[in-house]
Amino acid sequence: MVTRILIEHASQIATPRGRSARRGSEMRQIQEIADGAIYIEDGIIKEVGPTDQVTAAVGDLQGVEVVNAAGHSIVPGFVDSHTHYIFGGYRPEEFLARLEGAGYLEIMKMGGGIQSTVNATKACSEQELYRLGLQRLDEMLAQGVTTMEGKSGYGLDLDCELKQLRAMQQTDRDHPVEVVPTYLGGHAVPPEYRGDPDGYVDFMIKEVLPRVKELGLATFCDVFCEDSVFSIEQSRRLLRAAQEMGFGLKMHADEIVSLGGAELAAELGAVSADHLLMASDLGIAKLAGAGTVATLLPSTAFCLAHPYAPGRKMIDAGCAVALASDYNPGSCFTNSIPLILALAGIHMHLSIEEVLTGATLNGAAAVGRADRIGSLEPGKQADFLLLRYPDYRFLVYHSGVNIVEQVYKKGRLVYG
Ligand code: NIG
Ligand code: FE
Repeated sequence: MVTRILIEHASQIATPRGRSARRGSEMRQIQEIADGAIYIEDGIIKEVGPTDQVTAAVGDLQGVEVVNAAGHSIVPGFVDSHTHYIFGGYRPEEFLARLEGAGYLEIMKMGGGIQSTVNATKACSEQELYRLGLQRLDEMLAQGVTTMEGKSGYGLDLDCELKQLRAMQQTDRDHPVEVVPTYLGGHAVPPEYRGDPDGYVDFMIKEVLPRVKELGLATFCDVFCEDSVFSIEQSRRLLRAAQEMGFGLKMHADEIVSLGGAELAAELGAVSADHLLMASDLGIAKLAGAGTVATLLPSTAFCLAHPYAPGRKMIDAGCAVALASDYNPGSCFTNSIPLILALAGIHMHLSIEEVLTGATLNGAAAVGRADRIGSLEPGKQADFLLLRYPDYRFLVYHSGVNIVEQVYKKGRLVYG
């Protein structure tokens, strides 16, 4: 039997539109519907519009579950396209050292940073990683995240990378949040390859990527292209090999040092280039030209006390900007979606329309799923949020506060 749901009389429905990333000035184009309704069959949106028009189109309401959304605004579910949510252990001492002036790369060079989470993740069972993963997905769901990317990269060796990816796959199966898996073996050079990053790149290309592919454990391959981590040349070699095996590409690019990561992401046709705090003007122009999504992570800049990525400049240059959390135990131990939205609006100078597009449709594009999620339109999956206020602009105005009251995933109420 077909499951039919009608959400009616929402004070406002606000959504970007399209099946690909919105670039530049398109990011401002939000459709706003007063007294709005959404009609859903088997988890897929059939109609969106003013309540009188949608009810007329639906006709007979026999067998339809009707939900009155008066007083609420409705927006698409958030797509958090950059997280590292499968990890063991925490690094509070490193955070405190940073507050005393230690640098992120300095801590990493001393054997702390990512490597300390690698050690803790190796010590965790797959079951424990799975349990932690579910808990973290619960937290994201309560803030309106209906799709989330997750990266490996705290295993580095074959067994532990596969363990992380399997735990992630299991959380995807057992939790309403849809998970998009990314292989990030190129997150740090492990001690067994110290002084030989090229040897480690060879190992990933020959031993790990083919296994990950064969097991169907990741859609994307990512790399931390950074001074004293992986060079441009090493990143290019890894990502090209991954591309040949059929992986989509992502990059941690120009986060701390301006290396030319944005340029490389554009050259390779990566789906996204992420961080970009230090991206050059040429790199920004190339991202715009290539249609590579610029994924900005304002809470990382906030936690590291680094300058924010030039989001305003990127959109004005024609880029598609997505907003994501970078949730991880090191550089950014926060998974607060309200914080990201507020920082993007207040400190990156994105308009409220751009913030909404960045957190929904462009996030969906950054995980290659904009054809299916990220906006409220007929044919798309019914992933949406009922907000506490009648206007979606409260998402930035009620700064840093979660105003999500209910979450629907594939037309089913999964939170609230
Ligand atoms: O995106 N920059 C590299 N990777 C993560 C941080 C990971 C960590 O510190 O554990 C990031 O910021
Ligand atoms: Fe990251």
